[in-house]
Amino acid sequence: NHDEFKESISHNQDIIKENTWVSSLLYEINGCWIPAKLVPAVTNFQNQFQAKDSDIMLATMPKSGTTWLKALVFTITNRNLFQTLDQSPLLSSNPHALVPFFEYDIYPSSNTPLMNVDEIPSPRIFSTHIHFQCLPASVLDTKCRIIYIYRDPLDQFVSHWCFALENFYDGKTKPPIIEEALEKYSKGIHPFGPFWDHMLGYSKASSKDSNKVLFLKYEVLKADPVSVVKKIAEFLEIPFSPEEEINGMVEEVVKLCSFDNLKNLEVNRNGRTNYGVKHSSFFRKGGIGDWVNYVPPTMAELVLNVMEEKLGGAGISF
Ligand code: A3P
Repeated sequence: NHDEFKESISHNQDIIKENTWVSSLLYEINGCWIPAKLVPAVTNFQNQFQAKDSDIMLATMPKSGTTWLKALVFTITNRNLFQTLDQSPLLSSNPHALVPFFEYDIYPSSNTPLMNVDEIPSPRIFSTHIHFQCLPASVLDTKCRIIYIYRDPLDQFVSHWCFALENFYDGKTKPPIIEEALEKYSKGIHPFGPFWDHMLGYSKASSKDSNKVLFLKYEVLKADPVSVVKKIAEFLEIPFSPEEEINGMVEEVVKLCSFDNLKNLEVNRNGRTNYGVKHSSFFRKGGIGDWVNYVPPTMAELVLNVMEEKLGGAGISF
């Protein structure tokens, strides 16, 4: 029973709880920091979801490029359903409405899913923020593919910080000071942290089986979107044909999903997700290195040292 589960979690002395800059407490469960209010959703996802061979799973830490990846994978996968990309649903729907999150859209808080996932036509595209080791068994036991994108942790932090200030603080409650938030971040205490374990889980899985997990980097996608879009299509075994390439289809996909294009669409300037988040807050600056405008140098050094210590030898570059 969901309520009993919640109750037992909240009284379980073994579960470590922490506040961060998001509105909800975080629980540490098996080494993963999960927002308390999402624990039932994660549990329901783990217990109830049955993956199919044709499924596509997008996995990210929050604020690492999820919205962009959703737009790209949706467009690459469905590109033959429309005569031209001018007819894409992406022009009238936010990417989060086209690719649901397990935690927020499908299994948010009750035993009954909000969506009947069996009714979604294949290939189904889903999204999650949870660690690799928390994925339901069927995701690993089937041929379902996983695409992961990571981002410079300091930019990820700043993006999440700004997102939280915009969505979770109404002027009455005060956010913590940024130094406190960064202190916790450097200890891995942040939504879906520790960031190094999140990255390492998917990175190792990709090294083990590169047909199962595609490991991408936000900064590389920004620098060379055409190559990365082709890589995604190849990974999904729907490569662009020579004719599509000659006709500029790859560039069109990139343009459709570009920050400037999506940010300025009416639906993204004004709408909100099912769970109340402003669509506009998913499109802030879309740049690289904005952390220097927010993070004090001593705190940056702290986080950079942790990145080096935890990820330096793992072949994950920034
Ligand atoms: P910033 O806050 O640094 O601008 P997520 O989608 O995982 O929530 O991540 C949001 C971050 O990705 C935000 O970063 C947002 O601006 C950026 N973003 C969203 N759409 C993008 C796009 N099409 N191209 C590049 N960056 C994008």
